[in-house]
Amino acid sequence: MCYWKRNVISLKQERVMIRIVEIFARKFWKMKHFSIIGEIFFIQNIYMSTIEIPTPAVLIENLSKYLDGKQILFDVNLSIFSGEVFGFLGPNGAGKTTTMKAILGLIRPDEGTISILGDTNLSNETKEKIGFMPENTYLYKYLTGREFLRFNGKFFQISDSELEERIEEILHKVGLHKAGDKLLAKYSKGMLQRIGLGQAIINNPSIVFLDEPMSGLDPIGRKMVKDLILELKAKGTTVFFNTHILSDVESICDSFAIIHQGHLVTSEKVKDLKEPLEEYFIQKIEENTEGHLEVI
Ligand SMILES: Nc1ncnc2c1ncn2[C@@H]1O[C@H](COP(=O)(O)OP(=O)(O)OP(=O)(O)O)[C@@H](O)[C@H]1O
Ligand SMILES: [Mg+2]
Repeated sequence: MCYWKRNVISLKQERVMIRIVEIFARKFWKMKHFSIIGEIFFIQNIYMSTIEIPTPAVLIENLSKYLDGKQILFDVNLSIFSGEVFGFLGPNGAGKTTTMKAILGLIRPDEGTISILGDTNLSNETKEKIGFMPENTYLYKYLTGREFLRFNGKFFQISDSELEERIEEILHKVGLHKAGDKLLAKYSKGMLQRIGLGQAIINNPSIVFLDEPMSGLDPIGRKMVKDLILELKAKGTTVFFNTHILSDVESICDSFAIIHQGHLVTSEKVKDLKEPLEEYFIQKIEENTEGHLEVI
């Protein structure tokens, strides 16, 4: 059984199921002659075949990366399931953006494999299904918001009429409908963040990567991003976002992981948290830091 299957079926659940099937087998199917090991193996197979295993939208195995001769990522393993909202946490310089870039094929892993939507080669077909909002969105300042979305939409196979409809819908969603004809050069920081988010969903992606989507936004903007993420989730879109805002992770994520100094410290379900995420985060970072914490 590979490790991501083990993630979705807890050992406790498995033991209970085995016990139930065992009782039935003994009582009704007169299978007493089975050796206990054979029985468990048989029962486990029946049980496994009845379970729908969620497929990972992203599966990272043993990812290591060096930049400028320095190791940035150390043997990172991570799986994010389809339809999940996943928050990637870690102090400044921990390796969040580097991991995201590696997943998106913007940098090449030195070791390890990455599968996204079941594809390890990142084909054009897969790229069509991905949305990405980078940390520092490079924007063509002499385009208007509307033109910028149109420009980005043209990279995808969307008909002109559908694209125009999507542009209007997205401008409304990100609260820029009135500012749609203003040059990006005249947008505020938060407005640029909003239009960057808009371009990430122009292709109606199956999976969207957002690198700190809430940074620089006012409380209304933050709520808008959270609502948008939840709306994407409701449509079955997988959302992977890097963030420092722990309360957002608690309120909208299904799962999260913490990376520190290039090492994956933990990967968990939000519902399994037994204490506030802030306390848990600090504790995990302290446990995994030798000496004084410095950004390197
Ligand atoms: N192009 C680069 N060349 C050399 N080192 C780099 C490069 N990009 C990032 N790094 C280093 O990689 C490490 C991880 O950086 P990364 O941007 O992935 O961190 P992060 O977790 O996204 O941090 P933040 O929360 O500040 O965005 C840092 O030590 C950084 O200095
Ligand atoms: Mg970053």
